[in-house]
Amino acid sequence: MSDVRVFDEPATDNRLDDMKQGVLGKPLDRPDGPVKVAGAAPYAAEYDLGECVEGVLVTAPFARGQITAIDKASVLDMPGVIAVLDDPRMITRPAQGTAGEAPKQKPGQVDYFGQPIALVVAETFEQARDAAKHLAFEYDADDNSEIPFDPATAETEESDGATRKGDLAKAMSDAAHSVDLIFTTEGHNSAAMEPHAAMAEWDGQKLTVHAALQMLNYNHGELADAVGLPTEQVRILARYVGGGFGSKLGVSPETVAASLAAMELGRTVRVVMSRQQVFQDVVRRSETKQRLRLAAGADGRLIGLGHEARTSNLPGEGSAEPVVQATAYLYPGENRVLAVENATVHRMTAGSVRAPGEAVGMQCLEAAMDELAEAMDIDPIELRLRNIPDEHPGDGKPYSSRRYAECMREGAKAFGWDSGNTSGVWTDGPRKPRQQREGDWWIGTGMAGATRIHLVGRAEARVTLKADGTALVETDMTDIGTGTYAILNQMAGEMLGLPAEKVLVDLGDTDHPYGPGSGGSWGASSSGSAVYQTCDMIRDDIARKVNADAATLEFKDGMVRWPEGEKSLVDIMGGEDIVHQVRFKPGKAFEDYATASYGAFFAEVAVNRWTGETRVRRMTGAFGFGRVLNPKTARSQCIGGMVWCIGSALTEALHFDPVDGHLVNCDLAEYHVPVHRDVPHMDVLLVEERDAHGSPIQAKGAGELGLCGGAGAIANAIYNACGVRMHDFPMTPDRVMAGLEKLES
Ligand code: MOS
Repeated sequence: MSDVRVFDEPATDNRLDDMKQGVLGKPLDRPDGPVKVAGAAPYAAEYDLGECVEGVLVTAPFARGQITAIDKASVLDMPGVIAVLDDPRMITRPAQGTAGEAPKQKPGQVDYFGQPIALVVAETFEQARDAAKHLAFEYDADDNSEIPFDPATAETEESDGATRKGDLAKAMSDAAHSVDLIFTTEGHNSAAMEPHAAMAEWDGQKLTVHAALQMLNYNHGELADAVGLPTEQVRILARYVGGGFGSKLGVSPETVAASLAAMELGRTVRVVMSRQQVFQDVVRRSETKQRLRLAAGADGRLIGLGHEARTSNLPGEGSAEPVVQATAYLYPGENRVLAVENATVHRMTAGSVRAPGEAVGMQCLEAAMDELAEAMDIDPIELRLRNIPDEHPGDGKPYSSRRYAECMREGAKAFGWDSGNTSGVWTDGPRKPRQQREGDWWIGTGMAGATRIHLVGRAEARVTLKADGTALVETDMTDIGTGTYAILNQMAGEMLGLPAEKVLVDLGDTDHPYGPGSGGSWGASSSGSAVYQTCDMIRDDIARKVNADAATLEFKDGMVRWPEGEKSLVDIMGGEDIVHQVRFKPGKAFEDYATASYGAFFAEVAVNRWTGETRVRRMTGAFGFGRVLNPKTARSQCIGGMVWCIGSALTEALHFDPVDGHLVNCDLAEYHVPVHRDVPHMDVLLVEERDAHGSPIQAKGAGELGLCGGAGAIANAIYNACGVRMHDFPMTPDRVMAGLEKLES
């Protein structure tokens, strides 16, 4: 039976705290862990589908203009070459997942350096790659385009949703304390370990594609649209995905190209992007320029708040990195300006990269807060504690559960925050830079707040309680390395009274019910709620079968107990399966509240006085995101975010050639993600809460929170260590050196 459940009533009953199985909220090992570490979990390109030919994308060696001719004959005689495809439908930008459809380009139009222009298919990968390198084509590069590569010289358009309230300029001049600062952040690539890949099969009726994608429910329609088939004739599978971070939210060119080639050739076709193509052809995070204006009264309460950002994207792309998204609800200030302007440039598509908006917005806001605290001579935690608004400063909505203050206090205690004490009041006076040196290294600490909006979305699951006392959970939800297999197992196990080994979770198949996909940190709360509610229907059935009140039933280890009796599930089922399917949808309980996850970061750094090198020595993060479904997978998500904070603060940056607009550092040797040696021990505190508005299971988003602000804590620690205030991320040694030299001259 299927049912629709709308989340209109807040989940105030803490029901999941009283279940008997005791598996939810426990650090269950990921059921997919053993197959992954053994290399037995196939990623998109690793399926054995019998005979398979290989496609390699050919990319444009110029950033703007028109392909005028492709000489297919130039490679058709090469060894193993089967075909050259230049179907305009595959010459496309990556789609944007949640951000809407990519604009249609005219055939042959090139908008960014490295854009795919053709697919060469051959018997082996090496043959396809060789032919792709030799394919002859002609083009007109539009060297006189008025649209530049560099956002600094580009025209801009303001994004929707700007806020302008009161008189910020007057607040700034009236303020007892204020800061007015310009920050910059560089572009980021998701750099997922699994490169984008697809294997497509066409049997004349049905297209079956193994792909590396995050949101199958959405990708299904997107791919069907791209290849001109109804969704009934398209099936996408993504059982295991080796990271996504936003780059796999939408269908990217390799999936469309593999599908069109399979349909044209009637053969199974595999297309795997090279690492360089991953950098050039999937969505980037826009670089940003941000102006922060903070105006505080003598009591330290903000009276004015300005956060204005400049981002960039391709011609025709409406979406802009939502840099000020968290600023809108985190701090007060009745005079406020929050706005993003988007510059039109010929760089590859800008889109969602882990924690779109907050990742780079929060690190600058929280660095500016540190400077305001210093100007006021108060501890940075104290400044934040004085600026927790009573209601959403923009739309007046009440907040749902919000443990911002607790995260700061508990994090400070765990970290041993320098000037603090454990009573929760930090008034011991100002923190001063350059107080500690070990040999050639200045040592310092910094903190920053964390927050990320919480989203929950439509989600469906089918749960079968089988006559043999095992359960099967089916949804097209994905596990992109986040732990979905574990938490959905736990949810079903807790509700049906089954240990982990009796529950099978089957994900990543568009033949299954509509999952929410892995994006925007909504996956666990949305898909978890669908499984929770579906299992609830099964519990009601079991109650009817034993003539008991469902509320009195206890499920544990395959047994069902009620006040008058007990029986095993297998006996109650009497040889018949029970199958239910629920469509969960967000409703008033969620929509009428300002829901977000919160936290705090603490970092200790060492800055070399001669080389400007910064090493993060330790980091503590304290996070509150509602019910913790699995502390092991949740902690891993937080650590992953905090590792990225190190990259964002110190090393990660996309560099574009000013002459021809190509991405210069498109590999992992030159685009520096933190490696093992860069990452110190990290402490993660999970500050539990029950958020009745976050979702029916009281959980909120965790996946992106660990990245939202932490780079600011590192920047603040660099200042505390060596006395250099910097405003340009990443804070590479050359930038630190320039600051040190300026300070000492
Ligand atoms: Mo996330 S950037 O929505 O995968």
